[in-house]
Amino acid sequence: MTATYQTRGAVAVITLDNPPVNGLGYDTRVAITAGLERALADAAVRAVVITGAGKAFSGGADIREFGSPKATAEPNLLSVILALEAATKPVVAAVHTVCMGGGLELALGCHYRVAAPGAQVALPEVKIGLIPGAGGTQRLPRVLGLENALNMIVSGEPVASELLAKAPGQKLFDRIVEGDLLEAACAFALEVADTRPLPLVRHLRVEHPNPEAYLQFARNTVGAMSRNFPAPLKCVEAVATSTTMKFDEGMKFERETFINLMLTPECKALRHAFVAERATTKIPDVPADTPVRAVQKLAVIGAGTMGGGIAMNFLNAGIPVTILEMKQEALDKGVATIRKNYEAQVKKGKLKQDKYEQRMALLSTTLRYDDLKDADMVIEAVFEDLAVKEQVFKTLDEVMKPGAILASNTSTLDVNKIAAFTKRPQDVIGTHFFSPANVMKLLEVVRGEKTAKDVLATVMALGKKIKKTCVVSGVCDGFIGNRMIEQYSRQAGFLLDEGCTPAQVDKAVEKFGFAMGPFRMGDLAGNDVGWYIRKRRYVEKPHLRYSKTADLLCEMGRFGQKTGAGWYDYAPGKRDAIPSPVVVEMIEKHRAELGLAPRKISDEEIVQRLVFALVNEGARIVEEGIALRASDVDMVYLTGYGFPLWRGGPMCYADTVGLFNVVQAMKRFAQNPNDDAKFWEPAPLLAKLAAEGRTFS
Ligand code: NAI
Repeated sequence: MTATYQTRGAVAVITLDNPPVNGLGYDTRVAITAGLERALADAAVRAVVITGAGKAFSGGADIREFGSPKATAEPNLLSVILALEAATKPVVAAVHTVCMGGGLELALGCHYRVAAPGAQVALPEVKIGLIPGAGGTQRLPRVLGLENALNMIVSGEPVASELLAKAPGQKLFDRIVEGDLLEAACAFALEVADTRPLPLVRHLRVEHPNPEAYLQFARNTVGAMSRNFPAPLKCVEAVATSTTMKFDEGMKFERETFINLMLTPECKALRHAFVAERATTKIPDVPADTPVRAVQKLAVIGAGTMGGGIAMNFLNAGIPVTILEMKQEALDKGVATIRKNYEAQVKKGKLKQDKYEQRMALLSTTLRYDDLKDADMVIEAVFEDLAVKEQVFKTLDEVMKPGAILASNTSTLDVNKIAAFTKRPQDVIGTHFFSPANVMKLLEVVRGEKTAKDVLATVMALGKKIKKTCVVSGVCDGFIGNRMIEQYSRQAGFLLDEGCTPAQVDKAVEKFGFAMGPFRMGDLAGNDVGWYIRKRRYVEKPHLRYSKTADLLCEMGRFGQKTGAGWYDYAPGKRDAIPSPVVVEMIEKHRAELGLAPRKISDEEIVQRLVFALVNEGARIVEEGIALRASDVDMVYLTGYGFPLWRGGPMCYADTVGLFNVVQAMKRFAQNPNDDAKFWEPAPLLAKLAAEGRTFS
């Protein structure tokens, strides 16, 4: 049963019981209506309480039913809520822990609501590109007032029940209950058992002194903040009808808007990302109940760009960190950077002074490996040089206690080779953080050939603890993200050879929605990084052709923002990218040497070549089992590479364009003599799906 029924004296108690969050799936909806009918038919029952078992009242729609006919099968949520409203005996919602989406809409359909303090209350539909679809836009403004309700619906963010109960004039909660919620709810139900007529939220008026002016203000601000996302403005429109239309008309508007949004590519992309995020944690041969190793103390080797940022993640999570360096100056510099980062947060009011001090107190530094020997895990972030890694891992193997996890933050080196430097390859794993490591959400967890399952499970759990999106990657050059970006960068280079300027490419890609185009990105990250990698990579893979413009740029000493010049010029102390005549001249000269006549290249071609390069390589990565699923590739790009969220990631975008069309475009690109025809051969997985009219998802 997904909802249980019992009586407590004259009160019937319907308890939603559909773990983990009492999602309102079909079976649960049936059980609620059955319980209600039974209660109404029982003359000994005077009132009804609805609550949730375990750790939620209800988290709303059951995401396992997304897209299936069950999601909307009768009784749908609207029908259940109508039945509650029509009940001839009082129905009291007993709200606790989590009350979100459909769960809140269900509670709003009850005659009364009592809540435990600390319940997270939200209408988060906007986060998946929707508006609330079961009366939330009509009922919440009636109980919370226009402004509070609109803020909650447009942001989707949870608010604690006891805070909501303090809002002036609120009618959301009739009572906040410390202590036994169910007992208090039953007692309350008996108090109101004889009240008639029963109060209905639909009969309330939306309170506001000047709704029109406020709504206009809301349209302006929300519109400006949510470019590319249709749902937030639709939230405003739907809530607006609660002030201008009769209740049932407002409900009709909400319903129609909800259905129209559901069909938009933005909503599909956001729902895809929502499901994809949850899927990343599932590893077929490592079940969720795999035991994990305790990680209470962490060590980091290297206090450079990455080491410091990595350490901050763990300090933030309350885990003590010891950083090891070769020289005291390097340690001092690393610690100073960590301090500076925290102090900036304190200044902005994002971090309290005492929290900052607590975090710094968890940090220690050392020059001696001996001080690391009781750490449960060590993350290496030294120079990207296999010989240096070898020396570090051999030393770690000698000093670390048995069972300690030895992780490398390498971005391009072979994790299996690194593991083989130790006598415990089963304890070695890759943890590929992205820069700045204290900010970026993505963590690629690189599973070596011999990595033990419990090591993988431990690192995935730890990644969650430090609030990262963890995506498992197999071992290959560049793992998932950087292996794909190599093909994207090669296309960007070819485009320069064929007639584009860096600014033209960046603009097209940024218009598509990337946070930054490839050349601005290179200038930010440092063009020397790629130069160094290319020197190694293209010696190993001499058949892979690429535009030499990036090497020529580095030979000019133009490493990017850090040298004041890269693909663009930079005014001292400024980050604005100014197109550089010197660079354009270098590109033109190189083009002439290649014997290429410049041609006019459309924004569409620029975007397609860059994005479909990601798609083709992504398909190979999925096929080879480097990524566990296409949606993992999307998560890597959404959380680590600034791919536009409303497009759902490269693989989801390819699905939207249609894989047949993607393959046709690739065939066209293969005809271009300056491009790499071999690369544009569609990956077998892509070709197969396209031929069968299927999608990656
Ligand atoms: P970095 O040059 O800023 O820092 C490396 C630090 O390691 C230096 O402070 C150096 O003194 C220290 N170090 C070198 N050899 C050592 C040894 N034997 N023992 C102790 N300390 C030693 O380099 P960065 O950028 O922090 O990179 C570190 C690692 O992270 C590399 O493997 C790199 O590929 C990887 N990575 C870098 C990213 C980036 O954007 N910078 C992104 C993701 C990974």
